[in-house]
Amino acid sequence: MENLSPGKISSAFIKALEKGLVRKEDSAVIFYDLTFLTERLSYLKSCFPSGTLHGLAVKACPLASVMKLTKELGFGVEAASMGEVKLALHLGFKPEMIVYDSPAKTIEELEFALHQGIRLNLDNFSELERVKNEIAKQRKSERAEKRKIERALGQAEMNIPLNSAIRANKSSIGIRINPQIGEGSIQESSVAGEYSKFGVPLRFKKQELINAFMENDFLAGMHLHVGSQGCSLEMLAEGTGRLYDLMLEINSMTLANKGVEQITTFDIGGGLPVSYFSSKKPVEMQDYVKALIHRAPTLFSGRGNETSSKIRLVTEFGRWIYTNPGFTVSRVEYVKHDPGINTAMIHVGADLFVRECLNTRDWLHEYSLLDSRGNLRTGASANLWNLAGPLCFSGDILAKGVSLPEVQEGDHIVIHDTGGYTFSMWSRYNSRFAPRILGYFNEGESFVVLKEREGMEDIIRFWT
Ligand SMILES: Cc1ncc(COP(=O)(O)O)c(C=O)c1O
Repeated sequence: MENLSPGKISSAFIKALEKGLVRKEDSAVIFYDLTFLTERLSYLKSCFPSGTLHGLAVKACPLASVMKLTKELGFGVEAASMGEVKLALHLGFKPEMIVYDSPAKTIEELEFALHQGIRLNLDNFSELERVKNEIAKQRKSERAEKRKIERALGQAEMNIPLNSAIRANKSSIGIRINPQIGEGSIQESSVAGEYSKFGVPLRFKKQELINAFMENDFLAGMHLHVGSQGCSLEMLAEGTGRLYDLMLEINSMTLANKGVEQITTFDIGGGLPVSYFSSKKPVEMQDYVKALIHRAPTLFSGRGNETSSKIRLVTEFGRWIYTNPGFTVSRVEYVKHDPGINTAMIHVGADLFVRECLNTRDWLHEYSLLDSRGNLRTGASANLWNLAGPLCFSGDILAKGVSLPEVQEGDHIVIHDTGGYTFSMWSRYNSRFAPRILGYFNEGESFVVLKEREGMEDIIRFWT
């Protein structure tokens, strides 16, 4: 699936200008092509068995109206914090459609998740211990409650369900395992090296993992996430493969000892990389799924038929869903010419593009230039361009040495492929107003305001 072309972006931007949606104060605007986004979503569904739960990573794009759209289309969420869990609940996601993944869950947060019946991926054995205690506590207090009701009604024993304990058991509980597959090309988004702050390392703790499953009947899921951008298809598939082998081993042990195959949920995480350059062929979801089927065939045995698969497959894609359908347009406020280099001062920098500004080697985008009316400028100026953000530190340079046509004040710089992990990482440094976010359908036939540009009240609320 390809990137949005400069021509398509220009035409959507012109339509937004014509409709008065880019106002004077909108020095920068973020756009989402919602038709493209929904195409991605249905393509994702078509690649996996129909019973798969696709928990889209909230951290990639927490826009409420976009999340609502994905909910209507039958998607769940992957939440990395209690804030994300509660946002999803607030937007009407059912608890069983929420996968809660934080590596630093407090006892209160675990209690809440268990009471609600939210899907949990535990990060480590200490967390497992907390959950075990919590379930025991819930069962005890529910039993006492049940006995109280029975006594009040003068009945010896009634079939009153143990509400939260039952829900706790339904709260599909899994454990995150680091398959130790190695790091991808971007260190800070690789989480399956020999060391990772996330999960239980498979090679170092295999026996403890087996014991954990044997000793805790409620532990019924496995979870992994190899990385977010920079990891090859082979790495991703092999990461799943290593856990799959362990799952087969544990399930045959629990079958022999307990009469059931205990692991019923397998969460492969997210991580499919996207292409930030139209000239670079992206990894196709279809090819990824083929590699997974090859390495872990029975995970997909229910393909097209929910009931025939014993394993509930869960995915947690973020970047692959949201990045390519989004782009950002910033007005050029000033132009500077220095010997050998030009600078375009624009209205987004490290506030919107934290990763890009702090690691200019690994996080790159394509850029285009539109004139003040949104028409595409072509050609190349004699000198290269730095795209400098508005913040008060010298590292606030979004891109260095970019080839662009001659830039003029009042033009617009387009930063391509900005739909994932940009606005969600917004920084408050220098108290800039977060930009307006527009969504559109059918190449700009209709628009919707996904989020309004911030005003003074937002800044005051944040700092007060
Ligand atoms: C646990 C987990 N799941 C899913 C994701 C989403 O990954 P991606 O956006 O690369 O698909 C991340 C990203 O960091 C993650 O940490």
